[in-house]
Amino acid sequence: MMERITEPELMDGADQAAAYAGADFEEPNSHFIQLFAEYVGAPSGPVLDVGCGPGDIVLRLARQYPEVAIHGLDGADTMLAFAREALAAEPELQPRVEFVLGTVPGAALPADAYAAVTSNSLLHHLHDPMALWQTIRAVAQPGAAVLVMDLFRPADRAAAARIVDAYGAGEPEILRTDFFNSLLAAFTPDEVQEQLRAAGLPGLKVAVVSDRHLLVHGRV
Ligand SMILES: C[S@@+](CC[C@H](N)C(=O)[O-])C[C@H]1O[C@@H](n2cnc3c(N)ncnc32)[C@H](O)[C@@H]1O
Repeated sequence: MMERITEPELMDGADQAAAYAGADFEEPNSHFIQLFAEYVGAPSGPVLDVGCGPGDIVLRLARQYPEVAIHGLDGADTMLAFAREALAAEPELQPRVEFVLGTVPGAALPADAYAAVTSNSLLHHLHDPMALWQTIRAVAQPGAAVLVMDLFRPADRAAAARIVDAYGAGEPEILRTDFFNSLLAAFTPDEVQEQLRAAGLPGLKVAVVSDRHLLVHGRV
């Protein structure tokens, strides 16, 4: 198994954020919403999405659960500009959706406040993955639901290149390069299991849900 090679945490380059915001994530993002319905169901209170990027998952959750407030946190203002633009096009969601600039660890978030915490494709960016798990412990209500999806690291660079060819065909080169680097930076399911143990989150389990994605689900 190849060693993890980290990439920069924030996606705050203008070209990088624009390419990401313009990419077609219909399949993985609608899969995430299906998994949310399956593992979490209708949330009983506010939801936080950590590393929300251009906000597509936040807006999908807000449409799906019309009673619920959803907050998206990201450390890249360039990404949040796309999220705010998308929210501006849906005025009916505006009273319930908020995009917050901040990085984990250390973002100014209320303690014990969220009934569910989600995150998609953030974990592999973090140089110290405990930043995500400690944030979840701090902001989640006791018993809150957690749903975290991310890539997992393939066995070697050739396997990573095959995944990029299979799912990134026709995408701009900047996105294909980010995708390849993300696969090399990702964790294995065993590594994530060990992070959860170290974080004191025994109610969270790791499952492999596609040929490139793992899912962490359960209750705090
Ligand atoms: C690959 S994008 C995923 C965006 C979104 N969750 C999605 O599924 O499309 C990862 C996002 O995490 C953000 N990010 C990376 N490290 C972060 C940190 N330490 N704190 C907050 N956001 C971070 C990046 O700026 C980027 O917008």
